[in-house]
Amino acid sequence: MNSFHRGRRLRRTPVLREMVRETSLSAADLIMPYFVTETDDASFRQPISSMPGQFQLSLAELEKEVAEAVKLGVRSVLLFGIPAVKDELGSGAYASEGIVQKAIRMIKKNWPDLVVIADCCLCEYTSHGHCGIIAKGDSVGHVLNDATLDLLAQTAVAQAEAGADIIAPSDMMDGRVLAIREALDKAGFEEIPVMSYAVKYASAYYGPFREAAESAPRFGDRRTYQMDPANAQEALREMQADIEEGADLFIVKPGGPYQDIIRLMHDSFDVPLVAYQVSGEYSMICAAAQNGWIDRKAVIMESLIGLKRAGSKMIITYFTAEVLREGWVR
Ligand code: PBG
Ligand code: ZN
Repeated sequence: MNSFHRGRRLRRTPVLREMVRETSLSAADLIMPYFVTETDDASFRQPISSMPGQFQLSLAELEKEVAEAVKLGVRSVLLFGIPAVKDELGSGAYASEGIVQKAIRMIKKNWPDLVVIADCCLCEYTSHGHCGIIAKGDSVGHVLNDATLDLLAQTAVAQAEAGADIIAPSDMMDGRVLAIREALDKAGFEEIPVMSYAVKYASAYYGPFREAAESAPRFGDRRTYQMDPANAQEALREMQADIEEGADLFIVKPGGPYQDIIRLMHDSFDVPLVAYQVSGEYSMICAAAQNGWIDRKAVIMESLIGLKRAGSKMIITYFTAEVLREGWVR
């Protein structure tokens, strides 16, 4: 063999491999999602069948869960709420006593330093399951964009008033970052950042989440507001719009199947990116691991480092508590 390049020289020992490693993962990169249910049953702890290891939790159970997470080193959580009653206008989302607002107050009272991110959307709270207002008689689920903005802005302010550290709009209405930014500023929350789901695809990988959050649309689908999976150029425009509207942090979602998009965003814009490893990505790894088809730890870690390598700074993942508990990430 006559070759100057021998890649194996730097792969010879674990320490050498560590020294030349280009990407790393640390506890501060990870965000743990939770589902909190509005219920009188304080011991409510309902397993989500399509997401093994994840639960719908009462406020009291969430408190226990977060207490453990904080001990493990979890730095940040993302909250989704499941209200006791849903209505046409999703009023539970912006009620001052809405379930997420209660959860935020509980968490911030106990753990002021934990970064609490509030998912800002209506789909968990609307009777039809869409992310905004639906016109009377509509059966395809064409959400009314501008009418919805006001409710999203109210939701963001209610979450900030409860003590949320970051507002994360996931609805994909046009102009919602600006509407939320203006409403937050007007209410005196000019220092509360917006983590926009800037590039969010109409993805089948959200399937398990819709069981978890009881938020599947009753009719139609989300394709008139979430992005077409075939599009990459369009992601540049979505990102540009959210930058101009004043977003601070930018989510690409799903994560793994859209690593090309994360890379494109990283190379095109100088902004902090967040990858959302969504429910379907989580469930697929769990299912294959349960069958003994893949090595659970190795695939989890490879999936997470892949999202960092693609260019994201942070990762929202349901594996956060597990990787810290197991000491796979510190
Ligand atoms: C609500 C929302 C969804 C997710 C996060 N926020 C579902 C959807 O848009 O249907 C998906 C998260 C996941 O699958 O883990 N707008
Ligand atoms: Zn939604």
